[in-house]
Amino acid sequence: MREDGTTETGSLRSLVLGARDAAYAPYSGFRVGAGLEAVDGRCFVGCNVENASYSVTMCAERVALGAAIVAGAREFRRIYLVTDSLESVAPCGMCRQALAELSPELEVESESGRGEVARWTLSGLLPERFALQSASGTARGAAR
Ligand code: THU
Repeated sequence: MREDGTTETGSLRSLVLGARDAAYAPYSGFRVGAGLEAVDGRCFVGCNVENASYSVTMCAERVALGAAIVAGAREFRRIYLVTDSLESVAPCGMCRQALAELSPELEVESESGRGEVARWTLSGLLPERFALQSASGTARGAAR
């Protein structure tokens, strides 16, 4: 990663591999790394963080999204996932909704433990996201 936080696209994968290796997944043993690439080139990584109270678990995608938000990033073009599983996995429904809040057209790439990469668009995975509507516009507009 460069000093300004930007990174070459090719290095996103290595950042995500590091995130996957840092995953805290003692209950499922299923490690997930996620790298969210902002439109300005900055990349933010996350891993899954499990908890003895299982429902408290945080997915890698939403951990990466939180890191991006706190750094001020608001628009994203791609998320890259890496797991140890034989087949590529798509983001869970909760993460699809979370990512679609800011970037409904996100490209989603997921690498399996065998190195195969599956590709989707977020709008294909979640064609009808939930969005708050009001007379004066969307909640997204009001929150800014
Ligand atoms: N997990 C993610 O990190 N992302 C997903 O999109 C789905 C699932 C994690 C949560 C849990 O730690 C483990 O994978 C097994 O469900």
